[in-house]
Amino acid sequence: MPDRSPGFGVYVHWPFCAAKCPYCDFNSHVRHQPIDQPRFAAAFETELATMRARTGPREVTSIFLGGGTPSLMEPGTVGAVLEAVARHWTVPDGIEITLEANPSSVEAERFRGYRAAGVNRVSLGVQALNNGDLRFLGRLHNVAEAKVAIGLARDIFPRLSFDLIYARPGQTADAWEAELNEAIGLAADHLSLYQLTIEEGTRFHVLYNAGKFVMPDADLGADLYALTHAVTAARGLPAYEISNHARPGAESRHNLTYWRYGEYVGVGPGAHGRFIENGKRVVTIAEKLPETWLNLVEAKGHGIVDGEVLNRSEEADEFLLMGLRLAEGIDLARYEKLSGSALSSERLSALQSEGLVAPVGNSRLRATAAGMIVLDAVVADLAR
Ligand SMILES: C[S@@+](CC[C@H](N)C(=O)[O-])C[C@H]1O[C@@H](n2cnc3c(N)ncnc32)[C@H](O)[C@@H]1O
Ligand code: SF4
Repeated sequence: MPDRSPGFGVYVHWPFCAAKCPYCDFNSHVRHQPIDQPRFAAAFETELATMRARTGPREVTSIFLGGGTPSLMEPGTVGAVLEAVARHWTVPDGIEITLEANPSSVEAERFRGYRAAGVNRVSLGVQALNNGDLRFLGRLHNVAEAKVAIGLARDIFPRLSFDLIYARPGQTADAWEAELNEAIGLAADHLSLYQLTIEEGTRFHVLYNAGKFVMPDADLGADLYALTHAVTAARGLPAYEISNHARPGAESRHNLTYWRYGEYVGVGPGAHGRFIENGKRVVTIAEKLPETWLNLVEAKGHGIVDGEVLNRSEEADEFLLMGLRLAEGIDLARYEKLSGSALSSERLSALQSEGLVAPVGNSRLRATAAGMIVLDAVVADLAR
């Protein structure tokens, strides 16, 4: 029986990048003056202390430093944050501690410092193994630098993942298949493979609407998705989630906590958290603008500006939406416990006959490949 405990994760958001990529709508900011890292480290520590007071004593199952570009943090800043997490909660030896890194050479030089601070897994934003596409994506690195960073990360960290963006303008299935095979050959044990999406508020949104480039149509997008899943499965890194692929056992513990609807605290600008407080699941959402967040934390002990207490049906809906992204699917008994009633057997059989969901044994339910593509609609139908 696999261990499917949802877990308790700690997420730390570093909100700065060297440049803003034209496709990205994450909470990331470019600053042309140096960042006061000790001040940020102190604010992270303060916010962690506030979170500890809300969650009570807990055992942490994973820590994730995400961004933005956390590899712009000094190793000392990362060390201070990790020490603060360990002061507040129980952090068992060897739990997954991930840091997102960009593959430029300056950042790669800091890798040893991160390892010494306790980071044991790196997630590298490689994005493409093709210089023309890296330029199109506005990245500051080239393929040679990405490969150096991958090699260095493999030498230094026990675990490595990297991200690629596919379904780029002009990308053919053959070109993607060759690139994906090359990526797998670079021997990461985990790959995050995202289809390029045009997000509102990004530069790509403006350029795309002005007809400056053409995106692959829906049919090609679906073919590339199917190809991605077939190639990774054949090479031993099957999808365990819509966009995430791993050798069995190398799945991201931290991301599994999100999808298994576990608990996590989020600290830093724009971070979200979801954890049980006084028997109810609460949501926390922090101020996005780094300087405003800093002032709030220094004045009030936290930068939380929004949040809510979820009711049963909201929890059950979120549980479905997250869990059906996973190849392992959801535990039907847990759904029933959360929502107070079982999923409607009528709707289940309708969706099953349309080939969108499938049972796993007699206690779990998963979305099929066709169901994953229209997951929001499947969940809306099930949760009705
Ligand atoms: C927060 S970024 C992480 C890391 C790091 N800053 C970097 O870019 O290398 C998370 C990942 O989301 C993906 N991503 C962001 N925006 C995307 C978009 N519009 N379409 C597809 N993937 C996207 C990229 O692969 C990126 O590495
Ligand atoms: S993709 Fe990564 S590096 Fe680029 S702007 Fe977004 S967070 Fe920053």
